[in-house]
Amino acid sequence: MANIVDQVSLGAIVQVRDRLLDQQAKGRKILRLESGDPSFDIPAHAREAMEKALRDGQTHYTASTGIPALRQAIHRKVTTENKLEVPGPDNVIVTNGGMNGLYIIFRALLDPGDEVILPNPMWTEIAENIRLAGGVPVPVRLRAEEGYLYAPADIEAAITARTRAIFINTPHNPTGMVVRRKTMEEIAAIAEKHNLLLVSDEAYEHVIFDGEEHVAIGSLPAAKGRTITVHSLSKTYAMSGLRLGYVIATDDLILMRLKKLVRCTINGVNSVTQYGAAAAINGPQDATLAMAAEYQARRDILFAGLEKSPYVKAFKPSGAFYMWASISPDWPGYQGKTDDWSMTNYLIDQAGIGSAPGSAFGPDNEGYIRFAFSCSTDQVRAAAELLPSVLQAAKA
Ligand SMILES: Cc1ncc(COP(=O)(O)O)c(C=O)c1O
Repeated sequence: MANIVDQVSLGAIVQVRDRLLDQQAKGRKILRLESGDPSFDIPAHAREAMEKALRDGQTHYTASTGIPALRQAIHRKVTTENKLEVPGPDNVIVTNGGMNGLYIIFRALLDPGDEVILPNPMWTEIAENIRLAGGVPVPVRLRAEEGYLYAPADIEAAITARTRAIFINTPHNPTGMVVRRKTMEEIAAIAEKHNLLLVSDEAYEHVIFDGEEHVAIGSLPAAKGRTITVHSLSKTYAMSGLRLGYVIATDDLILMRLKKLVRCTINGVNSVTQYGAAAAINGPQDATLAMAAEYQARRDILFAGLEKSPYVKAFKPSGAFYMWASISPDWPGYQGKTDDWSMTNYLIDQAGIGSAPGSAFGPDNEGYIRFAFSCSTDQVRAAAELLPSVLQAAKA
C-alpha cells in the first residue's frame, strides 16, 4: 500500500557517511567532506548554561513552543539583527533543528497539490518536506554562468494557479551563493504581485564570507506579513547535535497551525538545549565570527586545491560551507549520466574522501559534486592536497 512517506529517500549523504565510517572502523584515515557538520565546539557560555540547567534540575517538560527566556532572546535577535517586524516572543516557535521547522512550515502551509517554487540545485530535504506535506516542489534552475544566483524572471515564469509559496535559501546549500538585496527585493515584489507566501531558510546566515551581507527577505517592505522564516543554531553555534532551530511567523492562522504541529510532533525541544541556546544568542558572538573566518580560510584552501585539477570546476562560495563543482566529461573515471556517483564512489574507495553526488540535490544535477568544508582545517587541507592527484589517477 503506497504511503506519502514512500516518496521520500533515505538520503545519499547518509549512504556516503555510512561507507566512510565503515572504512574508518577498518582502520583507514577518512576525510569527512560529505556532510555539513561544524567541526567546532559550542561556545563556552552555551556549554556552561547547559551544565547549570542540568544542575538546577531543568529536565522537565517545557512550553511546547519554547521556554520564555529563549523566545525572548530570539525575538530580540530577529528584530534587531534580521530587522524583522515581529510583534513579540509569541511569534517565535522553537523547533527541533531547522529540519523540524521546515517540516511544520510546509505542513502548515500546504494543501495537497499546492506548489512551492524552490531553487535547483537545493538541499534534498526541502523538496522531501514539501512532498511530505502533500505539496509539489517546482524546481527553478540556478545557472553556473550566472553565479547560481536566483533569476527572478525564472521564478515568476514558474508561477501557476497552484503556487502557494516561493522558497528562498541564502547563503545557499549546496552552491554557497549569497543573494543580494536587489534580487531579494525583486523576489519579494513578485510574491506581493501574485499574493504568494515566502519561506526563507536562513540556516547559514552567519556563515558568510568576504564581507557579504545577509539580507533577511522578511525585512523587506513587500515581504512583510507574507514571510515565514526558519533559522538554525546548528551552523551558527556548531550546535548541530543539540537540535535547535526556530520559526518566525506573523500570520495568526499560520502561527496557530505551527503551534499545533509542534505540540503533536515534538511537544517541545530538549529543555537543557534551550538554556544553552538562550545563552548562545544572548552572549558574545565572537565564537561565531571566528568560525566564519576559519570557514573562509578552509574555502580558500579547498578552492586552490580543486583549481589544480582539470577534472572539476568549482564555484567559489560566498557563504555556507560547501563547494559545488562540475565534473568534466574528460575525467578518466567518467561514466556518463551516473557520473556524480562514480566520482563520489571513486573518492571513497581510492582516498577515503567524502563528497555528496550532485543528483542528491534535485533533478538534472548529475555531473556535479559537492564538497563540504565544515570538517577540520587539517582534513580540508589533506583533501585539497590529495584531490588533484587522486582524480588524475582514475582509469577509464
Ligand atoms: C539549507 C538548510 N536548511 C536547514 C538545515 C537544517 O539544519 P538543522 O536541522 O541541523 O537545524 C540545513 C542543514 O544542513 C540546511 O542545509
